[in-house]
Amino acid sequence: QDRVLPHPPRRLPMLGDVLDLHVTDSSQWGWKGAVEYGPIYERKILGARVTYVSGPDLIAEINNEEKWAKFLGVPVRDLRSVAGDGMFTAHNSEPNWATAHAILAPAFTQAAMRDYHDPMVQTAGELVDYWRKQGEGTWLDVPSDMNKVALEIIGRVAFGYEFAPFTASEPHELVQAMLRIMRYINRAAYSHPMVEATVFRKQRDQHRRDISRVQSLVDDIVARRREQGPRTGRRDLLDLMLETSDPETGRSLSTENIRNQILTFLAAGQETSAGVMAFALHYLSQHPEIADKARGEVMSVCGDSAPTFEQVGKLRYLRRVMDETLRLWPVAPGYFRKAREDTVIGGEHPFEKGEWVFVVLLALHRDAAWGPDAELFDPDRFSRDRVPKNLNELYKPFGTGMRACVGRQFAYHEIAVVLATVLQNFELEADPGYELRVEETITLKPDGLTLRASSARTVG
Ligand code: HEM
Repeated sequence: QDRVLPHPPRRLPMLGDVLDLHVTDSSQWGWKGAVEYGPIYERKILGARVTYVSGPDLIAEINNEEKWAKFLGVPVRDLRSVAGDGMFTAHNSEPNWATAHAILAPAFTQAAMRDYHDPMVQTAGELVDYWRKQGEGTWLDVPSDMNKVALEIIGRVAFGYEFAPFTASEPHELVQAMLRIMRYINRAAYSHPMVEATVFRKQRDQHRRDISRVQSLVDDIVARRREQGPRTGRRDLLDLMLETSDPETGRSLSTENIRNQILTFLAAGQETSAGVMAFALHYLSQHPEIADKARGEVMSVCGDSAPTFEQVGKLRYLRRVMDETLRLWPVAPGYFRKAREDTVIGGEHPFEKGEWVFVVLLALHRDAAWGPDAELFDPDRFSRDRVPKNLNELYKPFGTGMRACVGRQFAYHEIAVVLATVLQNFELEADPGYELRVEETITLKPDGLTLRASSARTVG
């Protein structure tokens, strides 16, 4: 028995729904489809079926780890050309996933953030200096500056590398190449190799060069560290990967796998956090009363000194600002799941073992279950008395199950440090002409967002 699902009306023989294909904003298009066709629908592209699921009940079934598992959908699978069997792009059955998870998960607990706190604070301080130097009247390129912050933090914390993005005249080679790689993969995800070899040959060749370049840059970093030998004092993720083995199996990570993990942190852990910071600053600039409330909390918890590790955990309102930002714009806009066995969801939609779906977080996070004001930015919907009882079903910005995001605490901590520091120092002014547009480079970020920062009244 086959599934019969709603689909776009102009379905062509053989070609299917190609007229309805949007390559550069595929996640937002997946969301629009959910609004139009409902909690489960499909697009058929040249015979391949993409099933989009956005209804909370159906997603709860798909998140059941006994029946469904992570699937490497096209853009994620294409990232394997860069990050191989790194944690994010590893197949569930690849032994290196389990080894890396055993070695790295302890380094991503909330308590472990204590070790990374100082580099985060220091980098946030450098952003403040950089913005001050730009002068009060300057329109700041917020998404680009947030990328710089997140990159510098992950570089320092993961492998002790300083890209120095606030002083360099142009972005580091590794950063430029990574951004081109992500853009290429996002665009080419549903393209045909023949099209890439002809129409996009120049871009494809650049893409290949970019991949070997980033790999060799990271190999150099790892080789230099190996030469140094074990370090004393603060250890970073690279030290951990070089020196630790899985306590259960005794296996450690190969040089190639360590490179893959570093590229994974750069791909999975930089654009995501940067996107959240940029979206949050957009909303704070649009809602001065929310910005004032968040600033008030930061000032009462931290005064005008840099936040300490303990204080970050006390910024409860700021946490709600982050959660609400991630609700409206889950920067990883969805995830793929595949059936472990023949199964039926919603009592009526059959899936054969191995068939897969895309979970549309952009639609789930604005589902009617969030209430009639789901489109509104309102951090207090995450306050204890208002938060939905079934939050775990309605809110999945970090994915689900065994393969959910390992960097969640890291992301919350760094974003909190950066937002708190910005709020302590600046008031943000929105460009009155700006309407939010969202760019997709696998992850999401505000496109063309500029803000003006003036010294916050509460400081000095
Ligand atoms: C996995 C989101 C920040 C590292 C994931 C997944 C999501 C996600 C949805 C699951 C993907 C899937 O099912 O295919 C986010 C968001 C972030 C964020 C929204 C920021 C707010 C980070 C950071 C790091 C990181 C800062 C590292 C420093 C990873 C890794 C995985 C992952 C390694 C793969 C985990 C595994 O399969 O074992 N992330 N992420 N992420 N993320 Fe994040």
